[in-house]
Order: sequence, then structure tokens, then C-alpha cells
Amino acid sequence: MKAIAYKKFGNTEVLQTIEQPMPTIRPDQVLVKVKAFSVNPMDWKIRNGAMKLMSGSKFPKHTGVDFSGIVSDAGSAVSGFKIGDEVFGVVNNMMKEGASAEYVAVPAALVWKKPDNISYAQAAAIPVVGTAAVTAIGKMGKINSKTRILVNGATGGFGMVLLQLLKQHGAHITAVTSSKGVAYAKKWGADTVIDYTSQNVLSQKAMCDVVIDLSGKMGYKNARAIMLPKSIFLNVTPQPIEILFSMVNNLFTAKKHVVVLSNPGIKYTNILLGALMNGLEIEINKTFPFEQTKEAYQYAEKGGFTGKVVVEVN
Ligand SMILES: NC(=O)c1ccc[n+]([C@@H]2O[C@H](COP(=O)([O-])OP(=O)(O)OC[C@H]3O[C@@H](n4cnc5c(N)ncnc54)[C@H](OP(=O)(O)O)[C@@H]3O)[C@@H](O)[C@H]2O)c1
Repeated sequence: MKAIAYKKFGNTEVLQTIEQPMPTIRPDQVLVKVKAFSVNPMDWKIRNGAMKLMSGSKFPKHTGVDFSGIVSDAGSAVSGFKIGDEVFGVVNNMMKEGASAEYVAVPAALVWKKPDNISYAQAAAIPVVGTAAVTAIGKMGKINSKTRILVNGATGGFGMVLLQLLKQHGAHITAVTSSKGVAYAKKWGADTVIDYTSQNVLSQKAMCDVVIDLSGKMGYKNARAIMLPKSIFLNVTPQPIEILFSMVNNLFTAKKHVVVLSNPGIKYTNILLGALMNGLEIEINKTFPFEQTKEAYQYAEKGGFTGKVVVEVN
């Protein structure tokens, strides 16, 4: 079968199509014929070597974490899935495995039935950003209509789900996005939208109970200027040193620095399946065929789009 892999760390040029044997399944696993996998910033952070402490340096490596497809085989210990089921899920170890192949073998515990009302592309787009959004909301404390939340980088994949879930919680949302994202931010629930290409969000007075930075460009130290005396900054792109920093920092200030590290699992997926039933919108900005996986990453890594980029596999 065909798979997208790379044999050294680098930019999109290291991605190549390789032939490899079909994966075999363990008793607890299902074999999924992949129909789509989504493109996430995590993929290129691993590929360019920024996370080599966790990913290791053994090659070839595959790319892609979340996928959708059709069950084509199930291990002897698997119940709840049969051949032909339409599913979506995540690979077991995102640092060492990848969804960018015609078939993937994954534990049945990391696969869920695809709702009928969404496409394969939409299903593949949900697990990573959806789990991250649910995890982040869990770190925000009690949310009601008086809670003022600023989402910086609000109309990428993560922001798309986060805005809609926060709206369901009734929060007051300020979304920061580029001009292209303004209409989407309003549609997904923002009460106020700031276009970062024409307005500096940090020049506002302190007004936020929660600031979450999805762009990775604001940082806690800058965000403090717009945070209320008792408030939370959520860091979704933490360096190891920042995890230590947050422990010490939070002993001495009521402006907390909180790290978000999400891990897709059944608890979160049930919340997301419920949200999908209630109309959670999954915007696919662009799909690419499997043969153009490199182009899909080039497009996504350039930025400047709303929603998700997905690769479709025939
Ligand atoms: N910790 C976790 O568990 C976890 C899980 C999932 C994702 N993440 C991380 O969360 C981040 C967001 O993920 P994503 O999938 O939403 O990525 P994404 O789709 O690339 O979204 C990032 C957004 O940031 C915006 N942006 C860029 N520069 C900005 C600036 N100066 N000010 C404000 N916004 C700016 C981009 O808008 P434009 O392109 O229009 O400029 C884009 O919409 C990534 O770093 C990802 O690795 C963390």
C-alpha cells in the first residue's frame, strides 16, 4: 500500500510517497481503509524536528494524526465495530505513527462511528482540534455570560470548534483573527471581533477573565496587559520550560499561566459527538488528493485560511 513518509527532518520537501506492507492488526485493533486525514500544525512541528525529544529520530516517519475511513478488518477482541463501518479516529502515538496511508491499524478504543450528517473530510478534521477545544474549556473554570474570553488566532481549526463550544456555554467572546476570518468568527459565536492586521489587541484595557492564544505569537507576558487581576492565560503551545514556569508563577500571581495538553479519548469525543448533533459546524477550507499531500502541507503551513485543510485518500 501507499503511504506518505519522510526519512529526515525538514520542510515539506522531505515528504515522499512510499510503498510499504499492509499493517497487521493486534486483537484489540481495527484496520481502517483511510478516506481522509487532516493537516495539523503538530504534524509539521514533528516533521521539522522541533519535537525530536518526544518523537525520537528513527525514520521513516509518517505524518497526520486524525483520520476517517471504513473498517476493513477487526481484531478478535474488538466488539462494537464490524467490517464496513464508517469511522473516524486518531493514531495511537502521534509522535511515532501517522495517518497518511491507505490503511492504518489502530486500537478500537481510538476509533468512533462517523455521524451520518458529516463527510469523511469533516470527520477527519475533528479529533485533534475538537479534543483540544474541550480540554481548553475544562481549564477555564466556571463559564457564564459574564465570563469574558479572548481567543487569539480564532478562526483556524482549533478556534473554529472552540468558539462554537464557548458560545454554547454562553461566554462573552472576543475573537482575534485576520481580515479573512472576521465573518467566520461572528458566525461561530464571537461577540466582538478584532482584525489583528489593523488593530493591536494588546492596546486595549485589561478586560479578560481568560486569554487563550492559538497563534502562538502573543505569549503570557504580553497577554498580562489585557488580563483582569484574577484571570487565566491558556498556553496551547508550551515549551517544557514553560510547564515549570507555570508551577512557580502561579504561586505568586492571580494572573495564572495554564498549560493545555490534550489527548483524544472517548470522554472528549462523546462531547464532540453531542455538539455535532447540535449543529457544530466543521468548515473545510480546502481538500487535496493523496498525491498532493506535500501541496496540502505547503498550503497549510503558509496560513491565511479559515477552518481546516484535509487530504482525501481514494
Ligand atoms: N496543546 C494542545 O493540546 C494542542 C492541540 C491542538 C493544537 N494545538 C496548537 O494550537 C495551535 C492552533 O492550532 P490550529 O489547528 O487552530 O492552527 P491553525 O489552523 O494554523 O490556526 C492558527 C491561527 O492563528 C492565526 N494567527 C496567525 N498569526 C496571528 C497573529 N499574529 N495574531 C492573531 N492570530 C494569528 C491564524 O490566522 P491567519 O492564518 O489568518 O493569520 C490561524 O487562524 C497550534 O499551534 C497547534 O499546534 C495544541
